[in-house]
Amino acid sequence: MTNLQEIASEIESYVINDAKQAEDFRIKFIGSKGLIKELYGELKNVPADQKREFGQQVNQLKNLAEEKYNASKENVSDSKSQIDRFDLTRPGFDESIGSRHPLSIVRSEIIEIFKKIGYSVSEGPEIEDDWHNFSALNFPPEHPARDMQDTFFIDKGEQEIALRTHTSSVQVRVMENSTPPIRTISPGRVYRNEAISARAHCFFHQVEGLYIDKGVSFADLKQTLLYFAKELFGEKAQIRLRPSYFPFTEPSAEVDVSCTICNSKGCNVCKYSGWLEILGCGMVDPNVLESCGIDSNEYSGFAFGMGIERITQLKYKVNDLRMYSENDLRFLRQFTSNI
Ligand code: DAH
Repeated sequence: MTNLQEIASEIESYVINDAKQAEDFRIKFIGSKGLIKELYGELKNVPADQKREFGQQVNQLKNLAEEKYNASKENVSDSKSQIDRFDLTRPGFDESIGSRHPLSIVRSEIIEIFKKIGYSVSEGPEIEDDWHNFSALNFPPEHPARDMQDTFFIDKGEQEIALRTHTSSVQVRVMENSTPPIRTISPGRVYRNEAISARAHCFFHQVEGLYIDKGVSFADLKQTLLYFAKELFGEKAQIRLRPSYFPFTEPSAEVDVSCTICNSKGCNVCKYSGWLEILGCGMVDPNVLESCGIDSNEYSGFAFGMGIERITQLKYKVNDLRMYSENDLRFLRQFTSNI
């Protein structure tokens, strides 16, 4: 005789995940040619004294199968009705897009300006040796010019290791590893042992530029910087050069841009001078070229370096350097649209 217990457990463990499986289940157990119909057919062969119990058990099986089938139908059709309820016309959820850091925005802008006139971008290590940060750049040992850059030395061994104080070290690496013509800018983070205040920080960011070729002159330097100032601050921008000193350039100059805030009429940002200091520059000292394996009789070049914080301060009127690294969302969110 058919084992009703086995059929019960088969019904219980039957997996129904979709409409097709539900239909297969129905045909197998409760359809007009299904197992349960068959069992009712067997009833006539069951001995009279067992008929009652057998009939009850088949009834229970029938209920079990029908309940399972009805429940599965609900599940299967439920997922379908979820799709029906999906409203394609409904507006999307608002994803907040975040913002780029103002220093990243300005760095990209500077890179784009120089890319347009053929400059590549080079990078180098932030932990530098004395040679690349100082000696190759014509800072003799013990020379007071080293004091201009309050350095974090991290190992006073035979070869001094320091956190780079400027990205001019990258220029040395580029000159050592390539042959002119060289036209490159090096953006990056630099470190100085400064007390943190609104006007100074122990780290900041620079972009340095280097152009080496045959016959490069001071006029090329001036024109390049004028182009840069106009691209960055607008067509009306003017520049002026003041004599200065850097060990790695001769002659050297400090560059001011006409104050874009007051149109050079005088305001508290330009301290009523009409000019804003933006960078240092000069003709690469022949000693530097020779240190880096470039023949200074054949080649000449210019270099310049600027602080990204300084440019950002002028563009966005951020007067406290500390805000760049405080991660205050009220400050950072103001740059959301400046992607
Ligand atoms: N390295 C200088 C500094 O950090 C800036 C600078 C001045 C870079 C003149 C140059 C340059 O390449 O020619 O103060």
